[in-house]
Amino acid sequence: MRLLDPAQQPDAIEQAAQRLADGGLLALPTETVYGLGARADDDAAVARIFAAKGRPADHPLIVHVPNPAAALHFVSSFPPVAQRLVAAFWPGPLTVIVPRHPDVARAAAGGQDTIGLRCPDHPVARQLLDACAQRDILGVAAPSANRFGRISPTRAAHVVDEFQDQAGADAGGLDEVWVLDGGPCEVGIESTIVDCSRGQPVLLRPGRLTLSQLEDAAGEPLLWSRPEAPDPEAPRASGTLLSHYAPRARVILMSDEQLGSSLDVIEPEVTAALMRDRHPVAHPRPRVAVYSRSLWARRTPHKGVHHLSMPGDAATAAHDLFADLREMDATGVDQIWVEAPPDGPEWDGVRDRLSRAAAA
Ligand code: TXA
Ligand code: MG
Repeated sequence: MRLLDPAQQPDAIEQAAQRLADGGLLALPTETVYGLGARADDDAAVARIFAAKGRPADHPLIVHVPNPAAALHFVSSFPPVAQRLVAAFWPGPLTVIVPRHPDVARAAAGGQDTIGLRCPDHPVARQLLDACAQRDILGVAAPSANRFGRISPTRAAHVVDEFQDQAGADAGGLDEVWVLDGGPCEVGIESTIVDCSRGQPVLLRPGRLTLSQLEDAAGEPLLWSRPEAPDPEAPRASGTLLSHYAPRARVILMSDEQLGSSLDVIEPEVTAALMRDRHPVAHPRPRVAVYSRSLWARRTPHKGVHHLSMPGDAATAAHDLFADLREMDATGVDQIWVEAPPDGPEWDGVRDRLSRAAAA
């Protein structure tokens, strides 16, 4: 594993672009989450992504492009609704699914006849994609830089956690994961995905952009393929699997009142168990972390219960979500009790990720 930090090394971007040009793996920052990248035009390089993640090879990846013109290289047509969405939100946290040009990026698209394209809005990603374009690489395929089914990374250190024990990757070899550090990701949850390849546009994955923002820009209504009511025509897409984004601990969503009364039940048991721990005996109590927006303002946390506050506004909650889940998971708890997010549309992305984590 090699770390490249543009803040410390003036040639980090050039080294990273050369790494991709050579066909190697490079984790790169975007404004949403870190991606595990390889050049999209090289099926052997793309195969390294699937191997490192442990992801089935028929799951399509998102291809990252430096600008809308570069996107045209990958498509057989760019439907008008996709053009309107791209005009409104690129560079930014939006992925459009459009018909793929049959001669390009077959492996990156997981063999589908469509392709997911995104132009990220992160200064390091943009410099990297420009440096790639100078080497005639018009797209970088990159799923989130986590192992299959795990939480997406929003810091370079998370990527290191995911891949530092990478089996079978020789130091310096093309399978070894290199990491380009771009600091913490601003958005914090993955891009909004809109399928524009099937007539009416379909929201496949909510993100920072709200449904009404998308519909305003699209100029037409969107269908929404929710996890509870999945669209049977949707292609296999790991981000759309119900049990995705899972920490090791079991995630349970509760209302604020349910959290309070559940704590009332377990706190005496935790106290008893802590007493017993001085004379260690096996005890079956679940070890619990509690993640709440409002509870800790009026209730003193018990010293045996790990607790963290969820930010009260949706954008900050998204920014912190995956880092906080990783932090709670790392304490070794069995369960993470999460206060269910409010109903507003600005919470759709956070609510989607939490319900998937809870379904795992
Ligand atoms: O924010 C993001 O989108 C991040 C950053 C790195 O750009 N990437 C990301 O990639 O979340 P990934 O692979 O973890 O999720 C991409 C989702 C998957 O559910 C994938 O199946 C879906 O996009 N996808 C990609 N191409 C597709 C296609 N042609 N048809 C349907 N779904 C597609
Ligand atoms: Mg992912």
